[in-house]
Amino acid sequence: MANFFHASSFSHPLLLLVLLIVALSNSCDAVGEDRKVYIVYMGALSKGEEYSLTSQHLSMLEEVLEDSHITDNFVRSYQRSFNGFAVKLNEQEKQKLASKEGVVSVFPSKTLQLHTTRSWDFIGLSTAIKRIPTAESDVIVGVLDGGIWPESESFSDEGFGPPPKKWKGACKGGNNFTCNNKIIGARFYSNESDSVRDTDGHGTHTASTIAGNLVSNASFYGIAQGNARGGVPSARIAAYNVCGSKGCAESDVLAAFDDAIADGVDIISISIGTSIAGDFDIEAIAIGAFHAMQKGILTSQSAGNSGPDTQTIISIAPWILSVAASTIDRHIIDKVVLGDGKVLKGNSINSFTGTYHPLAYGKEVLNPAECNESWAGLCLQRCLDSDLVKGKVLLCDQLSMGEAAKKTGALGVLMSEDKHFDYSSPYPLPAIQIKKQAAEEVKSYMNSTKNPTANILKSEAENDSSAPTVVSFSSRGPNPITPDILKPDISAPGVNILAAFSPLGSVSFLDERKVKFNILSGTSMACPHATAAAAYVKSFHPNWSPSAIKSALMTTAWPMNATRNPDAEFAYGAGHINPVKAINPGLVYEILNDDYIKFLCNIGWDTKRVRSISGDNSSCPQGTKGTPLDLNYPSMTAYVQQKDKPFAINFTRTVKNVGSENSIYKTSVIITSHSNITISVKPSVLSFKSLNEDKSFVVTVSGSKLNPKTSMASASLEWSDGTHTVRSPIVVHSALI
Ligand SMILES: *[C@@H]1O[C@H](CO)[C@@H](O)[C@H](O)[C@H]1NC(C)=O
Ligand SMILES: *[C@@H]1O[C@H](CO)[C@@H](O)[C@H](O)[C@H]1NC(C)=O
Ligand SMILES: *[C@@H]1O[C@H](CO)[C@@H](O)[C@H](O)[C@H]1NC(C)=O
Ligand SMILES: *[C@@H]1O[C@H](CO)[C@@H](O)[C@H](O)[C@H]1NC(C)=O
Ligand SMILES: *[C@@H]1O[C@H](CO)[C@@H](O)[C@H](O)[C@H]1NC(C)=O
Ligand SMILES: *[C@@H]1O[C@H](CO)[C@@H](O)[C@H](O)[C@H]1NC(C)=O
Ligand SMILES: *[C@@H]1O[C@H](CO)[C@@H](O)[C@H](O)[C@H]1NC(C)=O
Ligand SMILES: *[C@@H]1O[C@H](CO)[C@@H](O)[C@H](O)[C@H]1NC(C)=O
Ligand SMILES: *[C@@H]1O[C@H](CO)[C@@H](O)[C@H](O)[C@H]1NC(C)=O
Ligand SMILES: *[C@@H]1O[C@H](CO)[C@@H](O)[C@H](O)[C@H]1NC(C)=O
Repeated sequence: MANFFHASSFSHPLLLLVLLIVALSNSCDAVGEDRKVYIVYMGALSKGEEYSLTSQHLSMLEEVLEDSHITDNFVRSYQRSFNGFAVKLNEQEKQKLASKEGVVSVFPSKTLQLHTTRSWDFIGLSTAIKRIPTAESDVIVGVLDGGIWPESESFSDEGFGPPPKKWKGACKGGNNFTCNNKIIGARFYSNESDSVRDTDGHGTHTASTIAGNLVSNASFYGIAQGNARGGVPSARIAAYNVCGSKGCAESDVLAAFDDAIADGVDIISISIGTSIAGDFDIEAIAIGAFHAMQKGILTSQSAGNSGPDTQTIISIAPWILSVAASTIDRHIIDKVVLGDGKVLKGNSINSFTGTYHPLAYGKEVLNPAECNESWAGLCLQRCLDSDLVKGKVLLCDQLSMGEAAKKTGALGVLMSEDKHFDYSSPYPLPAIQIKKQAAEEVKSYMNSTKNPTANILKSEAENDSSAPTVVSFSSRGPNPITPDILKPDISAPGVNILAAFSPLGSVSFLDERKVKFNILSGTSMACPHATAAAAYVKSFHPNWSPSAIKSALMTTAWPMNATRNPDAEFAYGAGHINPVKAINPGLVYEILNDDYIKFLCNIGWDTKRVRSISGDNSSCPQGTKGTPLDLNYPSMTAYVQQKDKPFAINFTRTVKNVGSENSIYKTSVIITSHSNITISVKPSVLSFKSLNEDKSFVVTVSGSKLNPKTSMASASLEWSDGTHTVRSPIVVHSALI
C-alpha cells in the first residue's frame, strides 16, 4: 500500500479507500518468460462434475504448458460453485488455452484496491423499528474485504445462538483467529496473508456497518459520539479476506465467491472494484455475482470512487446491486482561528486539540535550491526547508494527505482546495481543508501582521440540511458497457461514517494513532448500508429472489433532488435507500435466471457462450433479437445514438403483487428533467386478485430531442394503490463519450 500512496504527493486522502485497478506487474518465472496470472473461466459446474475438477484443470494445462511448469505456475482451482482456475501464463500459452473447448474467457487477474452511528437513524432504521430477530439471526452476510477484527466489541456474540443450520462454511481464520456465533465463518486467500485478521481497518468498518452489535458511546476521540451499530445487528457474518498488502487479486476474489456461495451465505457485500468497467465475462466480481445470483444470493457492490466525472461507474452488471455514496445530515467540520480572532470554517476530522502557532505560507519556507515559489506554495516535501517549517502551521495551495507537513515538522496545516469539499478526512497532524477564498483571507491576514499565528480547533459535528446529496467522489453513470441499464442502482450513506476499526489500522496515512472506531468516507461505506438493508428485507422475506429484494430497495427509495445532484439518475439511480419502506414494496420487478440469459443473448452473446455460464442447455432464440431494454429491470433506461433526433421507446415490464390480495394500482408519471418528452403507460391501471400474481404493461417514451446540455431526459413512473408507491426512474440518454 505504501508504494501506491507514496506515488504522488498530489494523492488525495480519499485514495486510502479508493478502489483502483493497478495492472498486475509481470512476474517472471524461472525461465524468464513474462508470465502473468490469468483467470481461466469455464462457466457453471456441470452436474456430477464437482469431484475432480483440479485434475481436469491440470490435464488441460498439460496440453499447453510443459510438465515442469505446471506446478510452478498453477495458482488455484474454482470448483465449488463454478468452474475455472487461475494460472500463470505467457501470451502464447494464454492464446492456446483460450481456444480450448469449455473455456468461456481467459483474462488477466487484475489487482483491485479497496474502495455510523448517525447514518442508520438518518435513513429511518432507528433502534425502534419492527424487526424479526430470529429471522434476522438466520441471515448470513458474506463480507469479501480485507479481513475483520474478531475481538471488536461490535462482533461479540453475547446472546447469539449457534450458526443457522443451513451454514456449510468453515472457520479457517488462520493465525490465532477465532470465530464465534457472530462471525461464523472466516477464510483468507492472499498468498501474502496468514490470517483473516484485518490489518488496515477497512473490512472491520464495512462488516460492522452491516451487522455490528450496538456499542454505546462510540466515537472517534469524542467526535461523532453515539451508539455505533450495524443495520442488521442480529445477522451473522462470514468474513472472506481477499486482500494482501498491495491490493486484492481478482484470482483471490473469485475464489472467495466460489467458497461463499457453497458455504451458504445469503447476501454478499463487496466494497472492492476495478477502476475501469469491463465486460461481464472478464470481471471476477461480475462472474462471481452471476453464480451467486443463480443460487439466490444478492451481491451488493460499491459504485467506485472515481466521480464526479460521468461514466466512471465500475459496478455495472444487472444482477449486482450497485451503490453510490451520499451525505448524511451530520457533517464533520473544523475551524481555524487566526491570530486576529477571525474564524474560518473548513473540513477535516481533527481529533487534536489545538493551540496558537506561528503561521507560514509554503512559499515563505521554500528551499530555493530545489523549487520555485509556485511549487513551494503547493507544499511539496522537497520544496520545503524543514528548518523554517518546524514548529509552524503551514498554509498550502493544495489538498494533500498532510504527509509533507508532518515530515517537515509542521505543527499543523491549512490546505486550500474547492474540490472534494463535501466530506472530511483525518490527517496525521492538526489539519484543515479550506476553500480558496478563505485561503486568500489567510494570506491577507498574514500580510497585515509581522507574526501571524493560527489555531486549528478540534472537529465538531454540524447539521447538514442539504443531505442527502451524492458525494463528489461517488462514481457516476451512464453504464459504459450496457448503457441501457441504469447504474448506479441506488444511493446510501457513505460520508463521514463512524464504525469499528482494526487496532492494526492507521487512522490516516503516516499516523500512529490506534482506534477502535474510525470515521471513513467512500462508496466502500455506502455498499454495506445497502447490504444491510437487503439483509433486513431478507429477514422479512427469506424466500424472495435477489432481484425481488433489489427491486424492493429500488422502488421504495426516497426521490433525490436533481437540482442538487447535477448528474441526477446517473449519480443516485433510483434514489436514496429506505429500508423500512422496502420490506413492504407492494409490487416487485422480478428477474429470474432465464431472463438474465435472454439479456446476455440480447447483448450479443451466442448460445455456446451463454450455455457455458448458465450451466444448462438454455439457448438464444433464433430470428428476431430482443434488446437489453427487455430485461425486467426496476429502472427503465434507453440509450439513443443522437440527442437531437426524435425517439420513441417501449419498455415492457412485469410486476408481481407482493402487497395485498385485492389491489388496484394506478399509474402516474413525473417528468423530472427539463426536456420535452411524452410518456404513456398501457394499461394505466393494474388490478390484482391475488398475491404473487403477475401483470405486464408497456411504457412508451417519446420526444423530439434530448436536453442538449445533459444529453438526457428523465422521469419517474409510479404505481400506487393508495398504500404502496412503486417508483421507477425512466432515463433516455445519448450520454456516452
Ligand atoms: C495471538 O496469540 C498470541 C499468543 O498466543 C497472543 O499473545 C496475542 O495477544 C494474540 N493476538 C490477538 C490479536 O489476539
Ligand atoms: C503472490 O502471488 C503473486 C501472484 O502470483 C506473486 O506475484 C507474488 O510474488 C506472490 N507473493 C508472495 C509473497 O508469494
Ligand atoms: C464516552 O466516551 C468519551 C470519549 O471516549 C469519554 O470521555 C466518556 O467518559 C464516555 N462516557 C461514558 C458515559 O462512558
Ligand atoms: C516551477 O517549477 C516547476 C517544476 O520545475 C515548473 O514546472 C514550473 O513551470 C515552475 N513555475 C514557475 C512559475 O516558474
Ligand atoms: C500579500 O503581499 C504580497 C507581497 O506584498 C502580495 O503579492 C500579495 O498579493 C498579498 N496578498 C494578499 C492576499 O493580500
Ligand atoms: C438536523 O436538522 C433536521 C431538521 O432541522 C433534524 O430533523 C435533524 O434531527 C437534525 N440532525 C441532527 C444530527 O441534529
Ligand atoms: C431541490 O434543491 C433545490 C436547490 O437546493 C431547492 O431549491 C428545491 O427546493 C429542492 N427541491 C425539493 C423538492 O426539495
Ligand atoms: C434440456 O435439459 C433438460 C433437463 O436437463 C432436458 O429435459 C431437455 O430435454 C433438454 N433440452 C434440450 C433441447 O436438450
Ligand atoms: C410500442 O408499442 C406500441 C403498442 O403498445 C406499438 O404500437 C409501437 O409500434 C411500439 N413502438 C416501438 C418503437 O416499438
Ligand atoms: C416537443 O415535442 C413535440 C412532440 O414530439 C413536438 O411537436 C414539439 O415541437 C416539441 N417542442 C420542442 C420545443 O422541442
